[in-house]
Amino acid sequence: RVPGLRDRHGRTATDLRVSLTDRCNLRCTYCMPEAGLPWLPKPSLLTDEEVARLVAVAVRDLGVREVRFTGGEPLLRPGLVDIVAAAAALQPRPEISLTTNAIGLERLAGPLVAAGLDRVNVSLDTLDPGTFKDLAKRDRLAATLRGIEGAAAAGLAPVKINTVLMRGVNDAEAPALLRFALAHGYQLRFIEQMPLDAAGVWRRDEMVTAAEILAALQAEFDLEPDPAHRGSAPAETWLVDGGPATVGVIGSVTRPFCGDCDRTRLTADGQVRNCLFARGETDLRDLARSGATDAQIAERWREAMFGKLPGHGIDDPSFLQPARPMSAIGG
Ligand code: GTP
Ligand code: 5AD
Ligand code: SF4
Repeated sequence: RVPGLRDRHGRTATDLRVSLTDRCNLRCTYCMPEAGLPWLPKPSLLTDEEVARLVAVAVRDLGVREVRFTGGEPLLRPGLVDIVAAAAALQPRPEISLTTNAIGLERLAGPLVAAGLDRVNVSLDTLDPGTFKDLAKRDRLAATLRGIEGAAAAGLAPVKINTVLMRGVNDAEAPALLRFALAHGYQLRFIEQMPLDAAGVWRRDEMVTAAEILAALQAEFDLEPDPAHRGSAPAETWLVDGGPATVGVIGSVTRPFCGDCDRTRLTADGQVRNCLFARGETDLRDLARSGATDAQIAERWREAMFGKLPGHGIDDPSFLQPARPMSAIGG
């Protein structure tokens, strides 16, 4: 067997996250400035065929078993359904998932499921239309909720919901969001905000921590550790009121899971990032465009992953936020 995407700290990446666009129809403050960003020019983006080829190299030659499409907002990518279908045609067939804001998902969920989409994670930070508008700078709560319902109706259950909590913005809503998720059968995960905003204004002492989130939930719910195996999943999960429903907390900052990290990332312009917080990137786009073979691409990808750092280093005094904001990395 060919070697997979190993690094010098003993981890192997089997989970590929592919950003399909850096654009988004929302402007969540923790991710993108209200004015938007200078978007990647079209010729620098991977074409649908190039995305399909690189995913195929990852799955066939590098041992990747799970492929998640992200953005920006992946539903804005015109070729999304065809890209999912190409991934679903691979042998061995990878698990295929999407992380999205759900706007338009009620229309696209059916075609995506037919193309082979297995799972969807949706970002939803508030149930209050005014807070949604403050936070995402667009008045789209109703559209988001329609999309989530459409995903569940199309058979993408259980839908996972991602909520980034921000102090004084939506942190008081944590119990209400959990009640909402329980009522609809969605699996909610609360996320600690990471220093990946475009404005670079993240402050550790203002971040709502995993410990605070748990304390707020425990005031209203009975939480016990979920006996299910966590593996390399970012979320720690708890059984709510005896289960079977669970709630997750993704404590990337205060409870880092880098030691078990199994991720490799591809940006919309074809750069491998070996970590969310990587300082450097490895170009596969121009390599592929210059006529390289699949074996040469696979070798370059292996080299890119080998030097992955042991952790994100957010607590190091020398920590520097990556040059690309979250919207251009893909989460
Ligand atoms: P599942 O396979 O459903 O567990 O997906 P996921 O939780 O890994 O992916 P999702 O895109 O829903 O991301 C949820 C949150 O976890 C987001 O805030 C991501 O930025 C964060 N996240 C995802 N992967 C990593 C990672 O490798 N490192 C860190 N620190 N955070 C991550
Ligand atoms: N910190 C933590 N999570 C973030 N997300 C976006 N920006 C950040 C950030 N700065 C989340 C979104 C989405 C997922 C891909 O990442 O809520 O669900
Ligand atoms: Fe993996 Fe980097 Fe995320 Fe840590 S911060 S879990 S090493 S991608």
